[in-house]
Amino acid sequence: MSKQKSSSENSLLAPVYGSRWDTAAVPKKELPDNSMREDQAFQIIRDEMNLQGNPALNLATFVTVWMESSAEELMKLGAMYNLVDEDEYPQLKKIEDRVIKMQASLFNVPNDCEPTGVTTVGSSEAIMLGLLAHKWAWRKKRREAGLDNSKPNVIFGADVHTCWEKFARYFDVDMKVIPMQPGKYTINADDVQPLIDENTIAVGAIVGTTFTGQVDDVAGINKLLLKHKQKTGQDIPIHVDAASGGFVMPFIQPNFKWDFRLEQVRTINVSNHKFGLVYAGMGSLIFRDKSDLPEELPFQINYLGGSMDNYSLNFSKSSANLMAQYYNFIRFGKEGYQRIMDAVMNNAQMLEEYLVKTGYFEILTDTKFLPVVVVKLKDDKDFTVYDISSELKKYGWIIPAYSLPPNAEETVVLRMVVKENFSHDLAEKLLEDIQQVIKELSRGKKTKIAASPKVHMSKTKPHGIC
Ligand SMILES: Cc1ncc(COP(=O)(O)O)c(C=O)c1O
Repeated sequence: MSKQKSSSENSLLAPVYGSRWDTAAVPKKELPDNSMREDQAFQIIRDEMNLQGNPALNLATFVTVWMESSAEELMKLGAMYNLVDEDEYPQLKKIEDRVIKMQASLFNVPNDCEPTGVTTVGSSEAIMLGLLAHKWAWRKKRREAGLDNSKPNVIFGADVHTCWEKFARYFDVDMKVIPMQPGKYTINADDVQPLIDENTIAVGAIVGTTFTGQVDDVAGINKLLLKHKQKTGQDIPIHVDAASGGFVMPFIQPNFKWDFRLEQVRTINVSNHKFGLVYAGMGSLIFRDKSDLPEELPFQINYLGGSMDNYSLNFSKSSANLMAQYYNFIRFGKEGYQRIMDAVMNNAQMLEEYLVKTGYFEILTDTKFLPVVVVKLKDDKDFTVYDISSELKKYGWIIPAYSLPPNAEETVVLRMVVKENFSHDLAEKLLEDIQQVIKELSRGKKTKIAASPKVHMSKTKPHGIC
């Protein structure tokens, strides 16, 4: 390797396998002058992955951190196919359509509807595209009626993910945000009713909130909007954000109506990379019927050969995640997803139960809908959930502590998202580490918190995976 700039800033990537590979440091901020061996480059980058958190211990994220090796093989294959190029790769378009239709059916689309949709990079893109479609539909109606269409608004709770606010800002739509209250972290029809006006393009409802894993009262809001339609003729759609709940609710709460069984639910987004069980990089937007997607929005493009419709915020992307999601659908079927969701819910409930048994925590919300454990400290005089979160990092655990959205900010919690990889052993280790951390924190602050009760998870039911 020829001379490289040797300032330590610029030459940090110095492999320690030096004598083996006869290598110099690799610059950090410019392209190296020369090439290196394939295995050497691989090793350097793989080593860099060790400098951060371990995905298996990351209970902060909803995103999948483990997949079967056959799925990983398919992702490798899919990476070389640009999904946007449907003329060259028509089979992928068929697969995308199938994946959309399978999800529409999972979300109980009525037989007389013709569902359509797109796969996206995640729920954020899906939410923005869904709300944009509602904005266009609203504007068209207002224009045709000769009415002002300069002040669209969207109604949602403070329990939304930040991407809803992003939509409002980026696409110039007023937000009507319903604040939370102490003890009430979701929204219902009574919250929505006073905010509706002629400029409302849609109401957002969350099925599995980021903060507590709870579910907004979609059925109640649907009833309200149906009554409103009867009374005024104004047809306000609901966009359901099922980023986290979309693949859990159909299996854990099949009779709970939150989806296309409710008439005003016109669009639903889901994160395939959450409980769809594929790695990061895929969401879906499903329209109840193709008439819900204004025909002016999809672009007709012909420069990849042939003519095709495109409705997305980005353009080129790999087919890796789509292939992995298709694999999961046909590999697991409903029976397999049912088993996996039963197992993760079981594990979440066990973890919750045992955290409560330690005597330090109380449950904020029960895990009826999502495998998300949210607890607060019974007594935070001497240390807080922030201390616990920070100390747990020393054991490798990534468990966030945060305050709930306005006006429930006084409540601070720890949240653990239980995913498929969260084995019984991991649960037991987490519990041990939490108890150890609390012991250390108590000692440090000289408090009188009782010695941690001995809690073992070994007597609990074993969890099963597919
Ligand atoms: C309820 C909800 N909506 C939207 C999002 C954004 O999803 P994505 O990361 O797939 O863009 C999240 C992310 O956690 C979420 O929890």
